[in-house]
Amino acid sequence: MSITYKDAEGIQGMRVAGRLASEVLDYLTPHIKPGITTKEIDRLAAECMKKQGTISATLGYQPAGYPPYPASLCTSVNHVVCHGIPNDKPLKKGDIVNVDVTVIKDGWYGDTSRMFMVGEVSIAAKRLCALTFDAMWQGIMRVRPGIHLGDIGFAIQKFAESNGFSVVREFCGHGIGRNFHEEPQVLHYGKPGTLEELKPGMTFTIEPMINAGRKDVKEFGSDGWTIVTKDHSLSAQWEHTVLVTETGYEVLTLSAGSPPPPPFVNA
Ligand code: MF3
Ligand code: CO
Ligand code: CO
Repeated sequence: MSITYKDAEGIQGMRVAGRLASEVLDYLTPHIKPGITTKEIDRLAAECMKKQGTISATLGYQPAGYPPYPASLCTSVNHVVCHGIPNDKPLKKGDIVNVDVTVIKDGWYGDTSRMFMVGEVSIAAKRLCALTFDAMWQGIMRVRPGIHLGDIGFAIQKFAESNGFSVVREFCGHGIGRNFHEEPQVLHYGKPGTLEELKPGMTFTIEPMINAGRKDVKEFGSDGWTIVTKDHSLSAQWEHTVLVTETGYEVLTLSAGSPPPPPFVNA
């Protein structure tokens, strides 16, 4: 499949889906406290999507070689890098958890994730969550026609590594539209001026996975989905879906509860 460029109608569809995905995270936010299980978070998300009239893109999602994904969202706790499957274990004070929501509205996909700190967390965990948010924005702020995907990856990698963290290589951002995962792949590392040139109408995610320790990851157990850091170090991730406009970018996955961009971003 090749890159799809969205027209005015597609952009409007993507705006609605993106906002709704973000509003699911808003809905969950007050509930993410010590004692809640990730399964309960999943149930709340399904409830919210039902009220919205959206469909979870992850429930039953089955790329080639994978078993069908069994939940309405992903919950990746502590050293889980991505694709954590909700379970019956309560979250405890000090945990960090990524909640990743993808909804479908009128055929259009919106994909976004945030980190949540459960009660009081360590200074190291707080720093990882904050700097991973900044790393995502280091990528987003560069988006405009004429730059290349390698410029985005380079900016994220340079920022993460200069802060002593590492960038996961095995998973990347992706084009998105009427499909969950479209071309192009959006790597969170790379070299300036390389790869695809950005053009207006492209929509893709930027979703860096940043590890406090080494970059290497492995599959956890045999559920076919859960990815963890090899060295068991903490991992964080934030995700937005963005549109390339004529002059820059528009973040499509914003809502009332979205954290504001960091001070270094002047859009
Ligand atoms: N939402 C994830 C992404 O950002 C993909 C999750 S696929 C799932 O691309 F099946 F694990 F849910
Ligand atoms: Co994504
Ligand atoms: Co996602």
